[in-house]
Amino acid sequence: MHPDPPFLDLKGIHYSWPGGAKALEGCDLRLPHGGLWMLVGRNGSGKSSLLRLIAGLLSPQAGELQCQGRSALVFQNPDHQLLLPSCGSELLLGIDPRLPEELRLQRLEAALEQVGLAGLRERPIHGLSGGQKQRLAIAAALASDADLLLLDEPTALLDPDSQAEVLALIRALTARPEGPLTALWITHRLDELAQCDGAALMEQGRIGPWLSGSALAAQLARR
Ligand SMILES: Nc1ncnc2c1ncn2[C@@H]1O[C@H](COP(=O)(O)OP(=O)(O)OP(=O)(O)O)[C@@H](O)[C@H]1O
Ligand SMILES: [Mg+2]
Repeated sequence: MHPDPPFLDLKGIHYSWPGGAKALEGCDLRLPHGGLWMLVGRNGSGKSSLLRLIAGLLSPQAGELQCQGRSALVFQNPDHQLLLPSCGSELLLGIDPRLPEELRLQRLEAALEQVGLAGLRERPIHGLSGGQKQRLAIAAALASDADLLLLDEPTALLDPDSQAEVLALIRALTARPEGPLTALWITHRLDELAQCDGAALMEQGRIGPWLSGSALAAQLARR
């Protein structure tokens, strides 16, 4: 399942927050290039801290972390992430300003199209639905050339239709034959596990064995 070298490789990561809370305690994680990988775990088990470490927002206090790609975070609430007034200005923010203007605009339009928001470049962000905002946050990750998406409960605030749309979008991006993305998706919604390539349980700052999503969902339902 894991070719060598892995796309993402964490060995023995330890991290405690400045207040003293232990978040990761000898956490190992290896992911191949491509695919949708899901993590579940109780509140406080270290899932969000893990994504922040992979994204480089925090530095491990011990252990090794190697990532072959460029990562982007997508949070539960897109209102905490989207900063600018319109869809187009939001996406331009993440596109390398050294690129020629025409290429930047091409990349912007391509990102909107990939998430099903083609033609909405001028649309004010407050005029989008919750599901559209979440897809715009994913477009921003694509526009910034990320190939590792770190999604922290991205559907927690969405209704069932928008949840299904966002999940189907990430499924398609991680399974496309040309340059599949790698996604690490945190969820408390066990129904989502059926869609992933592998799932694992996080407990007390460590990740358990990778199982099929349905096997892990069945295991958790028996608890
Ligand atoms: N910004 C922070 N400052 C101090 N401690 C924090 C911070 N964020 C998380 N922690 C602590 O780190 C530990 C792991 O929290 P983390 O947010 O990573 O868990 P989680 O698995 O994402 O939980 P949840 O399911 O509630 O989102 C907890 O003890 C938590 O209180
Ligand atoms: Mg969290």
